[in-house]
Amino acid sequence: MNFFKSFLQSKIFLLILSIFVSYFLLPPFFILVAAPLYIYHRIVTFLSKWKKELYEPLTNDDCIHATDDIHGRPSGSISGVVHLKGSHTFDELVNKLEKVAAEYPKSRCIITRWMSVKFWKKCKDFKISNHVSLNEESDPEKVSQFLTSLIDKGFPVGQPLWEFISLPNYAHAEYGTSSAIAMRVHHSLGDGLGFMAIIRDLCDKDPAADEEVEKMLKAIRKKMNLNFWRRISYVFQLIFITPAQSVYLWLQGINSPCIPPSSNHDPNCDSDGTINVSNLIDLTLLKRISKKTGANVTSVVHAGVAGAVRRTILERGGDTEGNVVANYILPKLNHPGTLSNNVFPVPLFTPMSEQNRFQRLTQISKQLDQLFCTPLPIGMMLCIHTLGPFFGPIRQMKHNTFTYIHTNFAYFGEPMKMFGNILERSVLAPGLQFNGNPLLVVTSSYHGKLGLQLVGDRKFFPDEESLMRVANYVKDEFESMDG
Ligand SMILES: *[C@@H]1O[C@H](CO)[C@@H](O)[C@H](O)[C@H]1NC(C)=O
Ligand SMILES: *[C@@H]1O[C@H](CO)[C@@H](O)[C@H](O)[C@H]1NC(C)=O
Repeated sequence: MNFFKSFLQSKIFLLILSIFVSYFLLPPFFILVAAPLYIYHRIVTFLSKWKKELYEPLTNDDCIHATDDIHGRPSGSISGVVHLKGSHTFDELVNKLEKVAAEYPKSRCIITRWMSVKFWKKCKDFKISNHVSLNEESDPEKVSQFLTSLIDKGFPVGQPLWEFISLPNYAHAEYGTSSAIAMRVHHSLGDGLGFMAIIRDLCDKDPAADEEVEKMLKAIRKKMNLNFWRRISYVFQLIFITPAQSVYLWLQGINSPCIPPSSNHDPNCDSDGTINVSNLIDLTLLKRISKKTGANVTSVVHAGVAGAVRRTILERGGDTEGNVVANYILPKLNHPGTLSNNVFPVPLFTPMSEQNRFQRLTQISKQLDQLFCTPLPIGMMLCIHTLGPFFGPIRQMKHNTFTYIHTNFAYFGEPMKMFGNILERSVLAPGLQFNGNPLLVVTSSYHGKLGLQLVGDRKFFPDEESLMRVANYVKDEFESMDG
């Protein structure tokens, strides 16, 4: 039995399975299922021109997140709060939002289905006042609780899926700020980078900040600048290696160890919901490690998080074999940098057996390097793109693919300004996807600090303390590397 189990988890088995899947199952799937569906989708889209109330069909990427809305419990949103140095007024926010909403037609739409295809449909009774409210609470404890409750709160059905809340009296002692604005946008409207775009739209016009974002998008796209021979080799790899490799990596992700439930979890209480914590880490610390080890800051950040998750699994008596596989979310190479869904996951591996932090860092840095000199990102992008419409049903079947999700943002320009105030800090807390991973890690570099935000499933992290433990491990990892 044990032999059988270890055979199923062995690399050889996964390799054979991935070759079989990619060359014998995927082609018929494309020809018999995906292609006819695609043609049907195009026909319905064409016909929809005569249905005036339909705006446009959802993209496959939007579909990945739309399922929970269709089922009447829209909860997979990205929420966050920006902390402003000075004050702002409610009217200022409403005025600005009116302009921003005008720029994004989808922000005035709801999701509907017509002839089994998902469409954005213009909301008949859209009013900006339904989407922006004022909360004058000043007790930081109460506001923080309120903000935490927003993460997995549903949206009213039949209204566009976004909301802003002005918090003119919410001062944050640690950040030294005096007001804040909270917001949440459903994931079907946009991804993390899209969410940042909305924050930027609310900010005061600033050519330097625009340039900084342009630079960031360029860095994403530059990876595809290839010479002629590299291109030829890419095409070959794309046909003969990438499909099997992509499937292989997914299979490893499915096989990766789960974070065991915490020991003080009461098995009778099936509490739903999420819990979140945040932490600030000095960027200079990460830069020092980067300088010392030759790995860049992105790799250092990832290694710290991976090390902390590994430690959590070990501490809870989890599997000591195999790889911790992170689902690392990256923007697609063609991300427009505006409110839209354009991300794809790449798996990043950390052997459970690896005890040496520097070894771990080297491995991760190498994986990131290799990733971008092969067409693998294209394979993974295609995977997620074709799977979009099927994702809802897939997600309901399988709990916890990949050990955890990690996503990372970096903005190195001067701090942005909103209503003439410095935007001191933004805290991003995406909700967990229905039946998704129990742990989501967001790291964001801004204004000299790395913000570390963790969102956890209450079944695995019953209280703030249990999640804070993981956050502290991340800090520990960095400090030990700095050592
Ligand atoms: C959870 O996230 C929200 C932002 O959405 C933040 O305001 C709140 O303080 C966080 N809770 C903790 C305990 O860090
Ligand atoms: C960091 O390093 C990885 C791999 O070495 C590379 O893919 C990535 O683009 C680098 N990131 C930055 C911001 O330089």
